[in-house]
Amino acid sequence: MTQGRFTGVGLGLRRPHLEQVAGMEAHGVPFWETCPENLIGDGGRNHRLACAILDRDPVLTHGLAISVGGFDPWDDEYLRDLGDFLLRTETPWHSEHLCFTSVDGSSLHELMPLPFTREAVRHTIARARSLQARLPVPLLLENITYYAELGAAEMDEADFITAVLEGADAGWLLDVNNVYVNSLNFGFDPKEWLARMPLDRVAQLHIAGHKKFGELTVDTHGTDVIDPVIELMQWTLRRLGRPVPVLLERDNHIPDFEALLAERVRIQQAYDAALTLCGHRHD
Ligand SMILES: [Fe+2]
Repeated sequence: MTQGRFTGVGLGLRRPHLEQVAGMEAHGVPFWETCPENLIGDGGRNHRLACAILDRDPVLTHGLAISVGGFDPWDDEYLRDLGDFLLRTETPWHSEHLCFTSVDGSSLHELMPLPFTREAVRHTIARARSLQARLPVPLLLENITYYAELGAAEMDEADFITAVLEGADAGWLLDVNNVYVNSLNFGFDPKEWLARMPLDRVAQLHIAGHKKFGELTVDTHGTDVIDPVIELMQWTLRRLGRPVPVLLERDNHIPDFEALLAERVRIQQAYDAALTLCGHRHD
C-alpha cells in the first residue's frame, strides 16, 4: 500500500472552517480527511466549498456509515457512488471502522464493538473481503473505543483485530488515542498492546483528545491532545520507522481555525522529532 505524498499531520475538514480554508492557498495542512457520506450527491454552499477544497488539496477519505462487521446487505447504489467519490478525490485508500453500525437496516448512530469470538472473526473477514472487492482503492479498518465487551469473549481485542486484519488482508488505520482510552478503561499497557500487533499493516494514524467522566474515559474528540497520547504516537512512529500520515481528529468543541492550526503544528513538531530520531527527514 503506497502512502505516496501523504505524510505529516493532517486535519479533518470541518464546516465552520470551510469558507476560510477555501480562500487560503498556504494553510500548511498537508492533507485533509473527509467523510464521503457528507459529500456524495448535491448540496448547498458548504457542499460546494468543501468540494472545491478537496479538488485543490490532497485528501484521505474516512467513512462512518458502512457496517463492516454487521449483517445488513450492502447498499450497492451507495457503494457505486462511494467508488466514484474515491476515484475523484484520488485518495490512496478508504477507511472504515472495525465494528457494526446498523441492525435490520436501522442505523445505530454509534460504533458498536463486535464480539471477540472466532465466529465474529470469520464473519468480519468475509464482510471486509466482500467490501474490498466493491471498492476501487485499498480498505483500511480502524480500531475503535468500546466500553463493554459484547457477549463472552474467546480472545482479547488485540487478537481479534489481528485475526481480522490478517484474514481480510486489510490495512490498519491505527487510532492511538483509541488504544490509550481503551488502556485506561480496561487496564492494560498501551505499548505492550501495540507491540503485539501487526504494525506492518499500518497505513495511517489517528490522534485525538478524550475526556474523563469519573471512572470512565471517553473518546470525545473535543479537547486538545494530551502529552501521553502524543508520546504514544511518537513511540508508534519510531516503531514503524516510516512517515505514515497522522490525522488530528477534532469533532466537538471545534476551535477557530487558527487555534486548530496551532494544535496541528504542535503535533507536527512531535511527529518530526520522532521521525528524525529514526533517521527520516520530513520535508
Ligand atoms: Fe479515529
